[in-house]
Amino acid sequence: MASPFLPSSQPPKGVPSHVAIVMDGNGRWAQKRWLPRVAGHKRGVDALQKTVQCCLDRRVSALTVFAFSSENWNRPTEEVTGLMELLVMALSREVPNLKKHGVRLYFPGNRSQLSARVVQGLEAAEADTAGNNRLALNVCFNYGGRWDVVQAARRLAQTGREITEQSLSEATALSHVGDPDLLIRTGGELRISNFLLWQSAYTELYFTDCLWPDFDAAELDKALTDFSGRQRRFGQTAEQSAAGEPLDAAEQRHA
Ligand code: FPP
Repeated sequence: MASPFLPSSQPPKGVPSHVAIVMDGNGRWAQKRWLPRVAGHKRGVDALQKTVQCCLDRRVSALTVFAFSSENWNRPTEEVTGLMELLVMALSREVPNLKKHGVRLYFPGNRSQLSARVVQGLEAAEADTAGNNRLALNVCFNYGGRWDVVQAARRLAQTGREITEQSLSEATALSHVGDPDLLIRTGGELRISNFLLWQSAYTELYFTDCLWPDFDAAELDKALTDFSGRQRRFGQTAEQSAAGEPLDAAEQRHA
């Protein structure tokens, strides 16, 4: 479990503190151009790099992206290998730049199925950026929401700690950041696909047809503007929420 991420500043009012993204549509972007699917993933890394910069500029404190799901092993071997290679390459290319800009990297996910070379890359990037506190960038790799709940429950069972909402939250792979405020899914599909199942209980959802490689500052701003108009009620009535009545302790944990 990673130590808590304490951001150097809070976002301005109306800007989400934690944004999560299902970066979907790389394959279709490539196929439309008669390119191999991996070419779409490569452009996806560029879109991610731009999105990180936009989040820094808008003072978002945490960005969590779904880079490889526990179900992505079912893809053709060539694509799985391509994604592993891309991760190693992206780390060697981007970590110095991320480090310079105050980004701290985390890789929530099941490492036991990854090669020693990939695990080494993840560990080195985490260690190299551990001193940063402007933005937490969680690159979920071999991650699944169900895996996360199961590993958290197992962890609690091993320690004998009582299972409560609080203790289970603290045992998840995202315990170092608060729950996401906004979850964006690109690519037009309207589902969560086993992403942050536990953490997104009260997250605002935003879906766009934009394919991930085409995602840019303007697309992010559309999502942020939409978010700023949402009324987050956490189970209260619209009137209670508008009057700013305090939430009870259980609800505050998800806020
Ligand atoms: C879903 O698009 C995307 C993925 C499975 C991979 C996401 C990876 C990146 C954006 C690159 C960043 C990754 C690393 C390794 C840092 P899809 O292939 O399902 O697209 P489709 O729905 O159009 O087929």
